[in-house]
Amino acid sequence: MLLDTYGRVATDLRVSLTDRCNLRCTYCMPEEGLRWLDRPDLLTDDEIVRMVRIAVTDLGVTDVRFTGGEPLLRPGLARIVAACAALEPRPRLSLTSNGIGLGRTAAALREAGLDRVNVSLDTLRPEVFRTLTRRDRHHDVLAGLRAAAAAGLAPVKINTVLMRGLNDDEAPDLLAWAVEHGYELRFIEQMPLDAQHGWERTGMVTAEEILTSLRTRFHLTPEGATARASAPAERWLVDGGPARVGVIASVTRPFCRACDRTRLTADGQVRNCLFAREESDLRAALRSGARDTEIAERWRAAMWGKKAGSGLDDPAFRQPDRPMSAIGG
Ligand code: 5AD
Ligand code: SF4
Repeated sequence: MLLDTYGRVATDLRVSLTDRCNLRCTYCMPEEGLRWLDRPDLLTDDEIVRMVRIAVTDLGVTDVRFTGGEPLLRPGLARIVAACAALEPRPRLSLTSNGIGLGRTAAALREAGLDRVNVSLDTLRPEVFRTLTRRDRHHDVLAGLRAAAAAGLAPVKINTVLMRGLNDDEAPDLLAWAVEHGYELRFIEQMPLDAQHGWERTGMVTAEEILTSLRTRFHLTPEGATARASAPAERWLVDGGPARVGVIASVTRPFCRACDRTRLTADGQVRNCLFAREESDLRAALRSGARDTEIAERWRAAMWGKKAGSGLDDPAFRQPDRPMSAIGG
């Protein structure tokens, strides 16, 4: 098991497959992009599959989510998914993507064994999309969503970040649209994980504001305390259900006490928290011929040291050195 000193058990593994992306969301990256990881520093497909195998067979991981950057930019993605789907016990497999490549790949990924996708979509307005992501790809994301649903990657979830003055007036429209299309919408509070370190608490659209805005058009009833379990999203039934909406209030209502995440970066570092300032270099172990048991032991040690919380409310909080795109969402 991946246990920490607070008694939490990590069963949900996030694997970043690349730090690169074909969008430049303002809350994530600067316009010019970032200095990407060097190729030799990335885990190979085989190394990734080996790490997932160790996590699943030796460490009790039951859920594996592939992230990035943009994971669809990884050429070997379908092969990685297929190899992970063949593990015993078979983990649940999901993907967090900006959706652009899903039009081409959704069916093949489903075939390879992918169970679900989360697609990032912040606006229904193509011009706002262009401002927010600095790319004119709104149409491709919508096509990707349709392809995911058609391929049976269900439930298709949508992640939305609201940015003040840009798309903060769109919450009810986005929800109406998501309900109509059968997508499950989740709003995520903007977190201080951007490469530019431009996040400010006062500029962030809070969960409270989002809910107030949604309630101008919908009747929301809490799904109940038990439904949240370790899922970060608090969920509400929309107009009595069955449609639901989630809010991930990482900043104003942190869920660290129930956190069940462990993270592997594209360059083979284990992180016990999105906001951690330390990483454990398992790539060095992998490449120096360590056996599975030794890697598992190092992974356990990395998780044992997990802090109680993100530290966001601590006046001494400092953003992690790596941005979200290099950690994996
Ligand atoms: N704060 C909140 N969410 C973010 N995402 C990326 N950067 C941030 C941030 N700074 C979102 C993406 C994607 C998911 C992985 O996290 O939009 O949906
Ligand atoms: Fe790419 Fe996701 Fe960052 Fe947007 S938030 S630039 S889609 S990695």
